[in-house]
Amino acid sequence: MEEKILTSGNPLALLPEPLLAWYRANARDLPWRHTADPYRIWVSEIMLQQTRVAAVLGYYARFLAAFPSVEALAAAPEDRLMKLWEGLGYYSRARNLQRAARQITEQGGFPDTYQGLLALPGIGEYTAGAIASAAFDLREPAVDGNVLRVVARLTDCHDDIAAPGTKRAVQEQVRALMPEAEADVRIFNQAVMELGATVCVPNGSPKCGVCPARDFCLGRIRGTAESLPVKAAKKARRVEEKTVFLLLRKGKIALRRRPDTGLLAGLWEFPNTEGALNEAEAAAAVRAWGLEPKAWRKKLTAKHIFTHVEWRMTGYALEAAGEGPFLWADGAGLETHAVPSAFARYYEEARRLLEEER
Ligand code: ADE
Repeated sequence: MEEKILTSGNPLALLPEPLLAWYRANARDLPWRHTADPYRIWVSEIMLQQTRVAAVLGYYARFLAAFPSVEALAAAPEDRLMKLWEGLGYYSRARNLQRAARQITEQGGFPDTYQGLLALPGIGEYTAGAIASAAFDLREPAVDGNVLRVVARLTDCHDDIAAPGTKRAVQEQVRALMPEAEADVRIFNQAVMELGATVCVPNGSPKCGVCPARDFCLGRIRGTAESLPVKAAKKARRVEEKTVFLLLRKGKIALRRRPDTGLLAGLWEFPNTEGALNEAEAAAAVRAWGLEPKAWRKKLTAKHIFTHVEWRMTGYALEAAGEGPFLWADGAGLETHAVPSAFARYYEEARRLLEEER
């Protein structure tokens, strides 16, 4: 096999045939792999961004049952949409899905070109390539982190994969490898991803023993695979301190809607303020909303990590009198408002407290 590398010059050129055979025999049986419907493929790819397959499966089934077509998604009430997304995170994905669905319906159908797909909200190069190939049989690459890792290891490439130039180069290398036959084009991108997700795995030893590329992978042959890909360190996350209030009044709890733009736009949250407030400061904050603190029930801290920010939260549960600028929800009301998982600890506590009140 070493001879073959020398004659071919490029181990990547040897990949398609064994990879496709491996994929057909070993790929995980996932629902979006049984369809060529661009809508279903699109929804899967958006849900899978930054999210593990196991976490996506239930959401995917519920979402498609609720919105079986682009038209149904375009017409969906926002609250229903956000409720179906609740817990999946990165909520702008759901909003962009709906914005794109409306554009698609206005255009009279799904765009069937790479550029047409790329023009939709929430669809970047990776997603456009994934839909173009799987749904429309177009020879377009779809390069995500899995693919970057596979290619870096196969070619023993030590370039920084966080650098835009590296991704561009890998896209072109993958494009040159794309097979010709329709059935192969439809699965090729997924096959490279699948290899990265299940065999050429990150954080630790790749499973080279079962890899269809083991005989010509330069990373394996030279012993560098485990140290690849090279990725420059990211900037540290910004830490934000917050104080979250579970304000109880007559069997109800205070909620408010987040602003229409920015992080977690338009979702519901428990009232909160900047900074880690002590009890006296917290009481002043409650009064500033026009409420009177009555009985302090509990203090609880929590932390949530987003891509660029980390929230460190101090929380107070208390009974209060007055109305304030809030929506007061009972247990059922809490269920129908989409509260992002950043508040999961408080959401659970709120449910418990309302349950106790009944
Ligand atoms: N991650 C991103 N796209 C995927 C897909 N189509 N199948 C499995 N994992 C994925």
